[in-house]
Amino acid sequence: METILVTGACGQLGTELTEELRIRRGTERVIATDINPPNEALKNGPFETLDVLDRSQLMEIIHKHNITRIYHLAAILSAAGEKHPIRTWDINMEGLLNVLEAARESNIKRIFWPSSIAVFGPTTPSVNTPQRTVMEPDTIYGISKLAGERWCEYYNIRYGLDVRSVRYPGLIGWKSLPGGGTTDYAVEIYHKAVENEPFSCFLKSDTCLPMMYMSDAIRATIELLQAPPEKISVRSSYNLSGMSFTPEEIAASIKQTIPEFNIEYAPDERQKIADNWPDSIDDSQARDDWGWKPEFDLKKMTKEMIERLSEKNQAAVPE
Ligand code: SER
Repeated sequence: METILVTGACGQLGTELTEELRIRRGTERVIATDINPPNEALKNGPFETLDVLDRSQLMEIIHKHNITRIYHLAAILSAAGEKHPIRTWDINMEGLLNVLEAARESNIKRIFWPSSIAVFGPTTPSVNTPQRTVMEPDTIYGISKLAGERWCEYYNIRYGLDVRSVRYPGLIGWKSLPGGGTTDYAVEIYHKAVENEPFSCFLKSDTCLPMMYMSDAIRATIELLQAPPEKISVRSSYNLSGMSFTPEEIAASIKQTIPEFNIEYAPDERQKIADNWPDSIDDSQARDDWGWKPEFDLKKMTKEMIERLSEKNQAAVPE
């Protein structure tokens, strides 16, 4: 029986991944941790406050709960990272090294750590970006993720640690909100649409980025972690693809259901980050190695996002 630790559990991915792991593994077997207090969704199970920069606190929690597996999600995303580069490096890098070292010194068998499309940069081929290609990221977030990938592979080769990772595209879900990312617009746009409000987009209308619906992202993560070790040929991080679209295309797909929806464009500093990321990703290695296949395209995601957010809004209206 595994006992799982999730860091950054209050984040966009952490909230949903913790929920799913608790359903599959048993609530008491999944210890949620975050530097912030637990959100509503996490209150049904064990929670510990954890600053991932505090190695002794991390070790204490690992020993207290006899942790055997870690999902290390705590990080600062791309746009927020540009505001505080050194702090971002510390949290993203030292945090990962603390987890890798803690794993080496304890009974941790397997680690999941998310990388990102941000590992790519302006010199990377942007269409169908291959698994192995030029990587010259120019955000501190991307630099920390690329360095992190090298560390993960190093710990696998040098210490035999079973570290697994995917390069997530922008993640879109209705249960939790992202914070500080360049792909965040694709979540906020649905919230505005169901609230019948206009949306001001911080990217240009034709900026194409790789994206993924949250249930596909959760399933990819779980399937990767379930795969037998001999199937995992990539120990840095797997390319992972769901769909690609521009703000104009997501707005058009929303208008199919909400014709009066209005979008305007006011690109800010995040445009430069988006311009240097791929348009689309070749994830054939993940498909070949552990059978990855996405289920959601833009149309299917829009339908589900609008339905779920509308239900949520209605449930929130007082009688
Ligand atoms: N969604 C992230 C961001 O925009 C990319 O990994 O920063």
